[in-house]
Amino acid sequence: MATSPTTPAPESSPNPPPVESTPEEHDVQHNQDPIEADDPAAFSDYSDSSSLASSTQSITSSIMEHVYTNGRRYHRKSSDENQQYLMPSDETEMDRLDMMHHMGLLTLDGELYSAPITESPHNVLDCGTGTGIWALEFGNMHTESNVIGVDLAPNQPAWTYPNVSFETDDLEKEWTYKKNHFNYIHSRTLGTAIKDWAKYTKQMFEHAAPGAFVEIAEHSVAAYCDDNTVPADSIYITYCTILSDALLKVGVDVRPYSARFFRQQLEAAGFVDIKVMSYKIPWGPWPKSKKFKYMGAVCAEIFRTGLEAYGLMAMTRLQNIPEEEAKSICTEFYKTMLAGKQHGYHLQWYIVARKPETTEA
Ligand SMILES: C[S@@+](CC[C@H](N)C(=O)[O-])C[C@H]1O[C@@H](n2cnc3c(N)ncnc32)[C@H](O)[C@@H]1O
Repeated sequence: MATSPTTPAPESSPNPPPVESTPEEHDVQHNQDPIEADDPAAFSDYSDSSSLASSTQSITSSIMEHVYTNGRRYHRKSSDENQQYLMPSDETEMDRLDMMHHMGLLTLDGELYSAPITESPHNVLDCGTGTGIWALEFGNMHTESNVIGVDLAPNQPAWTYPNVSFETDDLEKEWTYKKNHFNYIHSRTLGTAIKDWAKYTKQMFEHAAPGAFVEIAEHSVAAYCDDNTVPADSIYITYCTILSDALLKVGVDVRPYSARFFRQQLEAAGFVDIKVMSYKIPWGPWPKSKKFKYMGAVCAEIFRTGLEAYGLMAMTRLQNIPEEEAKSICTEFYKTMLAGKQHGYHLQWYIVARKPETTEA
């Protein structure tokens, strides 16, 4: 049943306690202390009161098709009967993905990845490569590596480094890459797209070379708060509840996402030496510390178009919420972020694992 946009359902609220699970033995909890809030008058420098912005197996010409709805351009697969991917693939979204990449660098203190790579891995796969920015930077940094960026939508630049190529394919189908082939597999922010994590991580395992690292970077779709400033009827909770309910209708269950969830998926697929790093990403520039304040401001900029990118198709098509109402939910969320009174944040996880050198036949 659709959740009323104005009546959050606390019993099914995805808003979990501040730290959702006891860290596993090898998990590293970064910046897990409560984030101290700044005096609201002090973060106006980051406020922006502007309104929201209006493999090889399955390549067919249809993959190039797009549809236009809610004032945004979507890949055809977003509107087919399977509602495969609910996010737009227009220029606004490409800009947002590049800003998200910047946030990834900020989170990892300038690093592109968390895996303990010492030598350039020979064959590298970047799953759901988006604009291809990560694949290009990795290829530039590791000129000995052959990097393939694969995505449902062909939104990558025609110009690439000689060691970086892009392919259009659906990673939820059977991978046609060679088995035991990739020396490093990277997958960042496919959480609202992957329906079957067990199958996805199993394919990663089968196609990873013995000893190879895999790295999954994902985030929560839930409002976290350390100081009770996010009330039960917060627009943050309303939005996350509607989005989670909508995604479930297309078979994507984001509610169990946690450090433990991704660890378990990789473990079940056969990976070993699993390490999870967990980071808090503030929603808006409300924190006192300079680093968190800047991250919050970047997050607000990502959410300026991201709230509609994640939410519009989900709300209008799947939850039958009128477009105007869906847009006003996104606007209210964004304005709440800028107001800085609700100290919400989401969690960002980096999970690194290794395929054993020898596996049972
Ligand atoms: C939120 S974006 C992240 C882009 C990139 N990984 C990054 O971090 O910059 C998710 C990307 O995954 C792609 N995607 C979603 N489902 C996919 C699938 N089944 N197969 C391949 N790509 C997929 C989308 O087209 C989109 O470009």
